[in-house]
Amino acid sequence: MEPINYALLKGLDEQFGTPFYLMDAEKYRSNINNFLAAFKKRYEKVVAGYSFKTNYVPALCKIALEEGVLAEVVSEMEYELAHKIGFEKVIFNGPIKRPAIFEKALEHGAIINLDSEYEVEMICEYAKKHPDADLQVGIRININLTDEHGNSTIQCGLRFGRFGFPSDIIGRNIDRLHEVGIKIISLHGHTSTSDRAVLNYKIITQHMLKVCEQYELNEIELFDIGGGYFGAAPEGMDLTGKPTYEDYANCVLDETLTNEWFNHVKPTIVIEPGSSVVSNVFSYYTKVYQNKKVGKVNFVMVDGTVFDVKPTMHANNLPHKVYRASENQEQYVCDVVGSTCMEKDVILKDISLPKLEAGDFIQFDGVGAYTICLTPTFINFLEPILMQKNGTFVEARRRQTVEDIVGIYNF
Ligand SMILES: Cc1ncc(COP(=O)(O)O)c(C=O)c1O
Repeated sequence: MEPINYALLKGLDEQFGTPFYLMDAEKYRSNINNFLAAFKKRYEKVVAGYSFKTNYVPALCKIALEEGVLAEVVSEMEYELAHKIGFEKVIFNGPIKRPAIFEKALEHGAIINLDSEYEVEMICEYAKKHPDADLQVGIRININLTDEHGNSTIQCGLRFGRFGFPSDIIGRNIDRLHEVGIKIISLHGHTSTSDRAVLNYKIITQHMLKVCEQYELNEIELFDIGGGYFGAAPEGMDLTGKPTYEDYANCVLDETLTNEWFNHVKPTIVIEPGSSVVSNVFSYYTKVYQNKKVGKVNFVMVDGTVFDVKPTMHANNLPHKVYRASENQEQYVCDVVGSTCMEKDVILKDISLPKLEAGDFIQFDGVGAYTICLTPTFINFLEPILMQKNGTFVEARRRQTVEDIVGIYNF
């Protein structure tokens, strides 16, 4: 992508207005392919299902489609979106699958990973009503990631995650599916963790292999280890001790390629990357309007908002750069605060920056995951998303208008 400088940002501001996101399509393409290549060095049969929830900008998802990646969706909304974008092959996960979309997905040949017993009920009912249908399905298993000291790496430190079938009921559900002639072709082991550590994938893989062996799941075509990896870190981030795509691939392959069941069945390994391929694909640009000193605090007021760059409002300052009209030497410690009328709209806290003036720009990096898809219309119009196409910047998403907002209301 074209190198960013003040003059370029000024031009983009004149054309599209700030704030805006910038999407680096080629970075996304190479992230996905590098992740897959890490597996393919040792095992050819691997595919990715791109996690729509992480960021479903259609122009981005189309790149995944071009690269032969499947859509990984967890709701009716995401399912319909994947179809609209053109995905033929969809992995349908998620805890709640309404009957209508469940049936539609079955009829489209989606890979449905069942999460709970009500879904087993639904598919068995469907099988009874459609005795000639050749039904195939996947199942998600619940994985325990608690160590011998009682510490769990499951997201939020939860002792028990709620997704998938726990060990005590998996057997009877496998039996029920088999009894009505439904083939189990996918085993899903996604487990979101707080630390994204490689070791989690060793446990996940071992657990999945154990289930395959114990229940003789020899029709499994997709061995789906899920997502939740680290990767796609923004430039400048300290990567000491952070896992690479190769670390995850080698961990999973060390387990699978030495397993008798796996070597006999040779299923395709599925990864469901989200953050790990999209975080560094998006940057966000906002313009300074005012310096304002209140008491001891230097506030830098910008037209962007924290809701666009870290809607979860974690305490870490995001990687950032400034682009200024004039390069004076002055530095100050300041808080960069957003354009909403919320005191908590603080984008950078206690940060040392070169003194900014109205019209200067701040860039925030690594904002591709769980931002755009997690930001409702709040106070501001949704901002444009720009990308480069044939040497110029175009809008992958235009700025929202008042017509977009009122359009879904009836009264
Ligand atoms: C089933 C499933 N797959 C993939 C992902 C992607 O995770 P991440 O964006 O952390 O890589 C998630 C996220 O929660 C998920 O629930």
